[in-house]
Amino acid sequence: MESDARELPRFIGRYEIEGEEAEGGMGHVYVARDPRVKRRVAVKLLKKLYSSDPGIRRRFEQEAEAVAALEHEAIVPVYDFGEHEGMLYIVMRYVGGGTLRDRIRAEQKLRLRDIASVIDRVASALGAAHARGLVHRDIKPANILFDEREVPYLSDFGVAKAAETIEETGTMMLGTPQYLSPEQAMGGEVDARSDVYSLGVVAFHAITGRPPFEAKNPMAMAMAHVMRKPPRIRELAPELPPVADEVFEQVLAKDPELRYQSAERFARDLRDLASGRWYLVKLSNKLGLATAPPTRPEPVAVPVPEPEPEPATGKARERQRTLPFRPRQVEHTLPDTSLRDFDDLDDLDEDETKLL
Ligand SMILES: Nc1ncnc2c1ncn2[C@@H]1O[C@H](COP(=O)(O)OP(=O)(O)OP(=O)(O)O)[C@@H](O)[C@H]1O
Ligand SMILES: [Mg+2]
Repeated sequence: MESDARELPRFIGRYEIEGEEAEGGMGHVYVARDPRVKRRVAVKLLKKLYSSDPGIRRRFEQEAEAVAALEHEAIVPVYDFGEHEGMLYIVMRYVGGGTLRDRIRAEQKLRLRDIASVIDRVASALGAAHARGLVHRDIKPANILFDEREVPYLSDFGVAKAAETIEETGTMMLGTPQYLSPEQAMGGEVDARSDVYSLGVVAFHAITGRPPFEAKNPMAMAMAHVMRKPPRIRELAPELPPVADEVFEQVLAKDPELRYQSAERFARDLRDLASGRWYLVKLSNKLGLATAPPTRPEPVAVPVPEPEPEPATGKARERQRTLPFRPRQVEHTLPDTSLRDFDDLDDLDEDETKLL
């Protein structure tokens, strides 16, 4: 691979380079020290290809500013950016516990509960970004970083957008298309739902140990996202309950209209899948109950106004004796669940009930 920075630079801007962390698709990532505030940082030096065009630079700076304004707890903060020998660099928080890609490589299949909590945090970051009209465009395991305490963070906001500009000019194809949405693969308009699809691919990969599509080359992979039906997740992870197929069918829908409309909705169903709560939802639907114990937000107890005291005669006195506590109405705020098609409870087999 062509490289613009083979020698370890001593400084990039004011940052003292301590070592090279990794080489990514768009440049090198260095571990560095910021002498001004005496902290460790990560400096990403973008290849000249990504640094020369003033249009790309402007676009990148705009995105970096927008992401900085987000200040979300689950997004790797960008501290600074600048130019070093004609190459653009980005300074961000050092998040040194490895990436989700490293983890999938090491462990193959992650536990559903673990991946559900990673997706949950990434989805909350995406929710905040999407609310401001920011689309990430490059959701993939390599862009989910863990700190030393195993807390996950989403990185590389805005970088993909700069890279796309190069793609538009026909210079090169952006990274691996393994996690691309169909609309990205077609070069169409993207919105928040494109990130939702990619997040679904990431979850599928982490749970089953392989992405939904495998192909010989990037073009075939891109076409697979557009044309091919993904396998049912239970073909690769039969231990999952049947409702998992519905969840992944929905998140990997080719048509954005048929997909989960927000990352958080997908994350919630995944969480319910991992906790077994989907079973309670199904049960309550079957029994015609409007509610089930919610996970979030907390239930709100609505006090009922005291009814007029009945004259304590005959049957009324009887009832007062048998009902020593006044029943309170509890209103649950949930569940307009999107776990769909809860057909018959008869199809719940033993394996499913074991999840509870
Ligand atoms: N803020 C950071 N702190 C610590 N290490 C990081 C940080 N950002 C990136 N890295 C490391 O550098 C590697 C390369 O990151 P980089 O973003 O350049 O490439 P990528 O995510 O694999 O692909 P792409 O260039 O498409 O984003 C990551 O896999 C990670 O190991
Ligand atoms: Mg990256």
